[in-house]
Amino acid sequence: MSNRHDVLVDENGIEYIWTDGGKPGERYKRLVEDVISAGKPIDSVWNIPLLNAASNERLGYPTQKPLALLERIVKASSNENDVILDPFCGCGTAVHAAHKLGRQWIGIDITHLAIALIEKRLKDAFKGIKFEVHGTPKDLDGARDLANRDKYQFQYWACSLVNARPAQNKKKGADGGIDGLIFFQDQIDSENAAKKVIVSVKGGENVSVAMVRELGHVVASEKAVIGLFVTLKEPTKPMQTEAVKAGYYESPSFPDKQFPKLQILTVEDLLKGSVQANLPPDLAQGVHTFKKAKKEKKASNQGVLF
Ligand SMILES: C[S@@+](CC[C@H](N)C(=O)[O-])C[C@H]1O[C@@H](n2cnc3c(N)ncnc32)[C@H](O)[C@@H]1O
Repeated sequence: MSNRHDVLVDENGIEYIWTDGGKPGERYKRLVEDVISAGKPIDSVWNIPLLNAASNERLGYPTQKPLALLERIVKASSNENDVILDPFCGCGTAVHAAHKLGRQWIGIDITHLAIALIEKRLKDAFKGIKFEVHGTPKDLDGARDLANRDKYQFQYWACSLVNARPAQNKKKGADGGIDGLIFFQDQIDSENAAKKVIVSVKGGENVSVAMVRELGHVVASEKAVIGLFVTLKEPTKPMQTEAVKAGYYESPSFPDKQFPKLQILTVEDLLKGSVQANLPPDLAQGVHTFKKAKKEKKASNQGVLF
């Protein structure tokens, strides 16, 4: 008789263990919690399915791990109210598991892409969650400092100001004017085609009419409907005139409203919250731009470890 126990997790996160039944070929499916309370330890080989490309859990982060795996690790190594630290927290699976299981947590990541993703993930999963974010620019000086230190991190962060998905895979210096993308569903039609918004971020001291014109060309060639020009430096009058000349996107779902085809937004105004991108309300609620994390239920109770 083999001692092998395969632990499986179903789509609701319930863990099962297959164990030999005694007679040849006979196996039992039992809840892991029942096995543990019966005093039988889980095998040292954990069989937790990988996240496949179509998994609902996927948030688009290349190294994302299954939540069930991090929940197992958190449960096995801490008690409720303990503090979990993940100093390389990526898309935040460990902090998600920690919060769900009633732990306190600290996550650290070097990229603004990761931090923006985690903020959204936690807000989607835990209604009314409260946490603090340190290290992201809170004012114009902070934004300028980030732009001077790292142009690409500045672009990632600036994209988060307009809820855009950063254009991640671009090669340095070869972005073709696209720093971020927003997709929105304008009309629920048979094709369900999402409309595209292109975000161009400028963190430099020199911005010009030519840059606004260039964004207009990119919007046209990419078959996008709107371009957002997000700039650290105040735009000049001629730049604003150039943007106005581009006219409006006409939304079939909101025919009474006007959505400028080219919009110039300053980082300062976005940070203050005094302006935001003027886009048609997304009928599909952001699913095209960012994947949404599933809403979580209350954490399960757990016995004390030590
Ligand atoms: C494999 S992911 C982490 C996955 C995460 N622990 C989880 O539970 O899903 C690695 C992360 O480490 C971050 N990273 C790399 N170097 C770092 C550093 N010096 N300080 C903080 N984060 C760093 C990367 O940006 C990346 O998001």
